[in-house]
Amino acid sequence: MNEPVVILGSGGHARVVLDVLQCMGRTVAGVLTPEQPVGAEWDGVPVLGDDAWLASAQAAGYAYAVGIGAVPGRMGLRQAMCARLRQLGLPVPALVHPSAVVSRRAAVADGVQVMAGAIVQPGVSLGMHALINTGARIDHDTVIGEGAHIAPSAVLCGDVRVGAGAFVGAGAVVLPRVVIGDGAEVAAGATVTCDVPPRHRYIPGHPFKRLGDPT
Ligand SMILES: CC(C)(COP(=O)(O)OP(=O)(O)OC[C@H]1O[C@@H](n2cnc3c(N)ncnc32)[C@H](O)[C@@H]1OP(=O)(O)O)[C@@H](O)C(=O)NCCC(=O)NCCS
Repeated sequence: MNEPVVILGSGGHARVVLDVLQCMGRTVAGVLTPEQPVGAEWDGVPVLGDDAWLASAQAAGYAYAVGIGAVPGRMGLRQAMCARLRQLGLPVPALVHPSAVVSRRAAVADGVQVMAGAIVQPGVSLGMHALINTGARIDHDTVIGEGAHIAPSAVLCGDVRVGAGAFVGAGAVVLPRVVIGDGAEVAAGATVTCDVPPRHRYIPGHPFKRLGDPT
């Protein structure tokens, strides 16, 4: 179960993922990116190819890590990549930075990424490919849906529900039992005291804004 890992993407999030993997003692085989030629060096590891690699015979024998971030207005690329990995049945281990605190009573699905300094308390469930970013705090019994992104230093109090593909901005505070709907977005720094409907954006002092499909 300790296959060398291939990272998808070569941007800022990919560099954070590389760091987590190396801190976990995992061997990183290289990255897949359309932005550099095969054989080029990226942050000390080789570029192996682009996405076409995933469906090739070369893909066997490796684990994979999604190095593509997800921010408002650009949630779709990460989601598409996660869906592709699932469709191809490729192994995508959960990544937990050694400085993160994850309760033994939390459920962590495949593909989850818990970044440096994050805290995940008992009874929490992290859905497949959920991203718990640097220093985020997820308190007891909160449920984070598949592919949701909790941005750096966000605080989710107990019993919060975050839907699939939702985004909670940096430093936001979500009060207990609030429900953030599927694909909803919460602005950075917001204090969320009421539910956010699916596929709507919440900005303090503004009416909910309906969102289109993720791109
Ligand atoms: C909310 C957000 C997605 C912008 O949404 P948007 O609909 O494009 O908003 P706009 O930039 O058009 O601004 C609309 C209004 O909201 C306000 N606003 C935008 N972001 C805000 C925020 N985080 N907090 C408070 N007000 C905000 C703007 O000042 C503007 O106000 P006005 O209408 O009174 O002039 C963005 O500001 C944000 O918070 N992104 C999260 C960034 C983040 O956490 N990144 C982490 C990466 S790991």
